[in-house]
Amino acid sequence: MRDRLTKSTMFYISEVTVGFITFLFLFLFLKQQRNRIKLPGPWGLPMIGNILQLGTLPHLTLAKMRKCYGNVFQIHIGTKSVVVVSGYEMIKTVLVTQGKCFANRPDFYSLSLIGNGESFTFSLKYGESWKLLRKILGNALRSFSQEKAKNSTFSCLLEEHASAEAVELAKDFDNYSKDNSYFNGRGLISCAVANVVCAICFGKRYEHDDKDFHSLIEINNELQTASGSVSLLDFIPILRYFPSATLKAVHKFISGLNNYFERSIQEHYDTYNVNHIRDITDALINLCQTRDPTGKTACVTNKQIINTVQDIFGAGIDTVPTALEWSILYLITYPEIQPRIQEEIDTYIGFSKLPRFEDRHSMHFTEAFINEVFRHSSFVPFTVPHCTTADTFLNGYLIPKDTCIFVNMYQVNHDRDLWKNPELFMPERFLDELGQLNKEAVEKLLLFGMGVRKCMGEQIARNKIFVFLTTILQQVTLQKRLDDKICLTPHYGLAMKPAPFCFRAVSRI
Ligand code: HEM
Repeated sequence: MRDRLTKSTMFYISEVTVGFITFLFLFLFLKQQRNRIKLPGPWGLPMIGNILQLGTLPHLTLAKMRKCYGNVFQIHIGTKSVVVVSGYEMIKTVLVTQGKCFANRPDFYSLSLIGNGESFTFSLKYGESWKLLRKILGNALRSFSQEKAKNSTFSCLLEEHASAEAVELAKDFDNYSKDNSYFNGRGLISCAVANVVCAICFGKRYEHDDKDFHSLIEINNELQTASGSVSLLDFIPILRYFPSATLKAVHKFISGLNNYFERSIQEHYDTYNVNHIRDITDALINLCQTRDPTGKTACVTNKQIINTVQDIFGAGIDTVPTALEWSILYLITYPEIQPRIQEEIDTYIGFSKLPRFEDRHSMHFTEAFINEVFRHSSFVPFTVPHCTTADTFLNGYLIPKDTCIFVNMYQVNHDRDLWKNPELFMPERFLDELGQLNKEAVEKLLLFGMGVRKCMGEQIARNKIFVFLTTILQQVTLQKRLDDKICLTPHYGLAMKPAPFCFRAVSRI
């Protein structure tokens, strides 16, 4: 009798539980429908939205969805709506023509981890302070990338540093290839590029085997995944409270980086000398000390000004090495390309001097190759997520204020209406009939964003990539192991990396 009672009670309880869960799902589903912006887009499940459909390479999935839903459509990640924008002209409308209406950053947990939630790039809201900081940062970048070289004939300090690190990197490649060895160059490349960034920002250079330096630049894949578009932590807040090895690694890395910045900035304050401005940090301290705190710059604090050095540091430390890694991967995948770049090096630079930024103007095939690496890999597939600053109309749809916007740059770079056979790797598509760089084709390429929040370091990045690549190929030829299978599928992240691969360098001299 007691047994029967217990069974019926349990049956009753489970019926109530199922009923309650169904009701909850229905409630959340209807709430989600009510909050929907009336845009086309795929149906999503309650609570998780379209997460399962996105897969591991969301830029590809969203490019496919565009074929069904057009250039402006909506998805749901968790319970949040995201508007996905594709197509060159539509993206131009969002980032340039109506740029101010789409110029904010969303309140994402992953973005708030960077720079203690005060990053100019990832967190700061669009407005007067943001505009002023963008101006300050632009000036600091311009003055320090064009600063005279210290003791050489290089055109500027940045070129001098980039060239010196590139020479060291080519030597390292040669050393690691002794006895016919093949190696993975990721660590070496990261160190070399980080040294240029450290020199400009903090006036420091580290030896390549320096342990502290290695731990500083070890930007691991987990961090990359967590800070790319479509990080689940941003859309399903409860996940932050579950134990996660990834999240732990991200926190550890970020707090290490924050400590490094605090130490470096403090050291600069302690040793600051107004008559000897050593680097960008000094220049920013100088600005803080000489500005009128009640004048035009009153809307930003000294801390905000100084912290912009972190944006410069963070922006170049992973993107440029990733570009170089992809370049090397394409060079060993298509071995017929390397002699063409080396022929240009031999013609325009020779062996008696080192490559300079200005050589970009005469080396059209090399420039075409770099642009094709950018296009084909599209290793930054989305811009940093944007967000609307006000209720806005786009393509006839009302998009409410504070809606998160994903801009799919990968889709533009692989759009059949813009590029012939986009799946093929063909540097020639960036050359005109006279063999000169085709500027119109370069304009269509999207990797640095455009408009109001366009990347502030595009020319610096392009200059650095050019000098690193040509200095390496001046000294050595890169080869893959005969039997190795090349994989061009990236690991998804803010900057997507290639799967690890090995190569060797054969000296040309
Ligand atoms: C290959 C290298 C690089 C790529 C592909 C790249 C790409 C990008 C992209 C896609 C954005 C976001 C644009 C948007 O949200 O609409 C961005 C922002 C930014 N980049 Fe770069 N970047 C690179 C290197 C650099 C370097 C070397 C610097 C500094 C020296 C830099 C400084 C910045 C800054 C400050 C922003 C923030 C702009 C803002 O939020 O208003 N970038 N970059």
